[in-house]
Amino acid sequence: MEKSYKRHLITAALPYANGAVHIGHLAGVYIPADIYVRYLRMRNRDVKFICGSDEHGVPITIKAKQQNSTPQEVVDKFHLIIKDSFERLGISFDIYSRTSSETHHKTASSFFRKLYEDGKFIEKESEQYFDEEANHFLADRYITGTCPKCGAENAYGDQCEKCGSTLSPNELINPKSALSGSTPVLKKTSHWYLPLDKYEPWLREWILEEHKEWKVNVYGQCKSWLDGGLQPRAVSRDLDWGVPVPVEGADGKVLYVWFDAPIGYISNTIELLPDEWEKWWKDKETRLLHFIGKDNIVFHCIVFPSMLKAYGEGFILPDNVPANEFLNLEGNKISTSRNWAVWLHEYLDEFPGKEDVLRYVLCANAPETKDNDFTWKDFQTRNNSELVAILGNFVNRAVVLTHKYFSGEVPSHLKSELIDEDTLAQIPVLKKNIEDSLENFRFREALKEAMNLARLGNKYLADTEPWKLAKTDMERVATILNTSLQICANLAVAFEPFLPHTTQKLAYMLNMKSRNWDDFGSDSILRPGHKINDARLLFEKIEDEAITLQLAKLEAIRPKVIDEANEVAIEDKLSPLKDECTFDEFMKMDIRTATVLEAERVPKTDKLLKLLINTGLDTRTIVSGIAEYYTPEEMIGKQICILANLAPRKIKGIESKGMILMAKEESGKMRIVSPEEKLSNGSCIN
Ligand code: 2FM
Ligand code: ZN
Repeated sequence: MEKSYKRHLITAALPYANGAVHIGHLAGVYIPADIYVRYLRMRNRDVKFICGSDEHGVPITIKAKQQNSTPQEVVDKFHLIIKDSFERLGISFDIYSRTSSETHHKTASSFFRKLYEDGKFIEKESEQYFDEEANHFLADRYITGTCPKCGAENAYGDQCEKCGSTLSPNELINPKSALSGSTPVLKKTSHWYLPLDKYEPWLREWILEEHKEWKVNVYGQCKSWLDGGLQPRAVSRDLDWGVPVPVEGADGKVLYVWFDAPIGYISNTIELLPDEWEKWWKDKETRLLHFIGKDNIVFHCIVFPSMLKAYGEGFILPDNVPANEFLNLEGNKISTSRNWAVWLHEYLDEFPGKEDVLRYVLCANAPETKDNDFTWKDFQTRNNSELVAILGNFVNRAVVLTHKYFSGEVPSHLKSELIDEDTLAQIPVLKKNIEDSLENFRFREALKEAMNLARLGNKYLADTEPWKLAKTDMERVATILNTSLQICANLAVAFEPFLPHTTQKLAYMLNMKSRNWDDFGSDSILRPGHKINDARLLFEKIEDEAITLQLAKLEAIRPKVIDEANEVAIEDKLSPLKDECTFDEFMKMDIRTATVLEAERVPKTDKLLKLLINTGLDTRTIVSGIAEYYTPEEMIGKQICILANLAPRKIKGIESKGMILMAKEESGKMRIVSPEEKLSNGSCIN
């Protein structure tokens, strides 16, 4: 039995105020969160939706340096752009504040102080890179050098953007300071650490035992972190931008951004509800949900809960963390620095009145279980063939015909036939499907079912053809249009969480004063005699020119993106064609789809990952030499293709059953092969 809660506290990851928001952020976090919140509100739940800008950390200081301005100027600029664009898209936060606020500084500071006074931290000295010319300790992002894994120059101290490897600064070959270009030296510094290892047994119980219902990608990443063993994590940094460490003798040190940012959820709730915030954070009857992208999982599932646990005083923990995967753009990873992105504020300027088209496309194509691709062609097709041709067309026909035959008054149900009853009977079924999907964070599926309601309406009109009956049987026409208008009214409710601008227009057209989720499913939302307003088009066709323009904008950047990602074809270096094989030889190979359930490094090896996979037929272990290309966290939840009938082999003492199919470029770069769309596990490939 699902627990029922008194109130819902929904948070969406605080975006860094070092840049604007792009479609990847929207599809991963803000659109699903907003749909969920709007749905809860429609169901009259007590809900608060909390967000704000994340204004601290090294990315902000780097941006300031690049733009020759100050961190404060950077965050002021982007906070406004982000806040305004969210509002225009209809992301309905109850509060969108910022971590530079006084409330946040006070809250984060006193949070740290309490943990410090309660002896929850350990203080440790370590050696960190220091730029002697700039007289500054260097955050990982401020150190660049040659990647030890792929040889790319300009890899960062924490990550190589070319091969995606996670690095630590002392692994870089020829490290250089991004501040002065000089070679940094190692220097001793002291920091406070949260001993996550102490919380490990509790985290194992809380996540792995009590939250088996979390999404596979989230649960799997947590398991992999926990199985790998947690280490104490520094919660302070040597930096001059952030919340100062509130301890004597800590000059020049600030709270680590990942310590202060999640506290921002609490600060922003305090700012919104100064007198009753505790009820939202401490009462067990509050359901806390964090909407985030997959790169934030460890912070929201492991670090922040450990901070709350350490604080004591009854803070609640997230009941779920529905994290999404990443959205790519036209076949390439979205890259803020290379401008390979569709920026929300630019979209809103270039496609005025089409807020809901973006909401629709990004939800229909959301990276819920795997990374997905946004293409402008798909954007156009979904608009023209779905929003215009299905939803818009149905509503328009129903409203126009009502004006034509009944002067804009809802006609009575005068002469029923089986088709009317059958059609209306499907509405509660679709409603139930939408609810089930939304409650399980399957937003794509929920949207599809809402669209099926519009499809139902179109089919009903096509089957009953009221325009042909108008000369002979007005009683039937009345009944058909009554039925059609009831479907329209149901659409105005069903689509509210997804397309709020459109449903507002639709509700105006239908002259609906209020919309309640409880009415959804009813065959009599609009009473006979009720006057409706004139028809207005809900959607317009998007012409090729608009798409060509967007593609041209990207094409101007593409060579840079491709070049930098080193994806240039190296045809003359490709390995020669292998000897011919017969059809029968090929057919002996049993190649199938499977999904990675668990992944961990094989101890004492650099290249091997041990993967537990679901092949549809069984659950088995495969040892694969992909650790150079994928981290265990990246593999979990991925659909892969395997040679399933390869004879078992022992690798490092582990029995490996099967082989993962990988594509290998001549440069040495390797990528797993997976179906374009997720299929059932065990699907045969031939
Ligand atoms: O990844 C990001 O964009 C971070 N700024 C998210 C922070 S979420 C939270 F903890 F505040
Ligand atoms: Zn690399």
